[in-house]
Amino acid sequence: MINSKPILFSAIQPSGNLSIGNYIGTMRHWSSFQDNYECLYCIADLHSLTTLNKNFSLQNSVLDTLALYLACGVNPKKSIIFIQSHVYQHSQLNWILSCFSQFGELSRMTQFKNKRKIQDNYVENINIGLLNYPVLMSSDILLYQTNLVPVGQDQKQHLELTRNIANRFNLLYGDIFTLPKPLITKTGSKIMSLLDPTKKMSKSDTNKNNVIFLLEDISSVFLKIKNAVTDSEMPPKIYYDLRRKSGISNLLEILSAITNKKISILEKEFEGIMYSEFKKIIFDNISKFLHKLQKSYLVYRKDESYLKKVAKEGAIRARLKSEKILKRVSTAIGIN
Ligand code: TRP
Repeated sequence: MINSKPILFSAIQPSGNLSIGNYIGTMRHWSSFQDNYECLYCIADLHSLTTLNKNFSLQNSVLDTLALYLACGVNPKKSIIFIQSHVYQHSQLNWILSCFSQFGELSRMTQFKNKRKIQDNYVENINIGLLNYPVLMSSDILLYQTNLVPVGQDQKQHLELTRNIANRFNLLYGDIFTLPKPLITKTGSKIMSLLDPTKKMSKSDTNKNNVIFLLEDISSVFLKIKNAVTDSEMPPKIYYDLRRKSGISNLLEILSAITNKKISILEKEFEGIMYSEFKKIIFDNISKFLHKLQKSYLVYRKDESYLKKVAKEGAIRARLKSEKILKRVSTAIGIN
């Protein structure tokens, strides 16, 4: 092997409205990963089909997401950036691996159970794509002999499943798949809702005041921060304590991530400061951060022919790599 850098795979569904939580938990690290790993950054449009909405332009959203990847510092000269559906090997391996996955283990996945649950009932008429979702994720990861997958707490179970499927296959057919490991980033992997800091900030939250979107109008962020839940400690004190001060801790976490300052340093800076003043500083920093990101995003987003060129070149490189492992798999099971 000439290339000895570990292979890292990451992907996001192109839902079009990524949040600051997605940035802090995932995309923030993408640019620096490029120096230490051989990176593949995928736009998981096939996964988006599980929640397809006729009024939503997936095509536009894929381009939005690609422009955001670039704005976050992903460099097509250093990494492979590609759109999942452009590399048919993903669907092919998905079918093969679904024959090595069990109904029981898939139906027990937490994310599937949550999606299936409406109030307290389990619905029957849920699409099979949602059940199969983690198998497609496994295919994404295993197709590139991935060593590392950056994951938040909520995706750890999916990576465990990937390892189980790979192991099951390898036991029967020899060491074909590399077993991927999670790369867990310490702080900021979970940004919480602004109005309910005990639950995760989710881009699909019905109450938009819970979420800061990467592409939203900066003026609307002011009120969201102003209304963000804090606590009633007297006198007010700013320090990190997830259990007793979940709101303040969440704001500190956001600030630390976008300014690259340690939380312990921020705590010292904010000694004796009122919550209102603290929130003003939070807003100023978020606004500076969003402004810079959005400016760069717009430059890329306007140039569709460049975006399409990046996607096309990425797909060619991803196909070359994934075809190799797919061939080995096909030979092993006798379908080539
Ligand atoms: N499920 C991930 C999300 O919702 C996207 C994804 C698809 C992914 N395939 C993956 C993440 C493989 C890590 C590895 O954003």
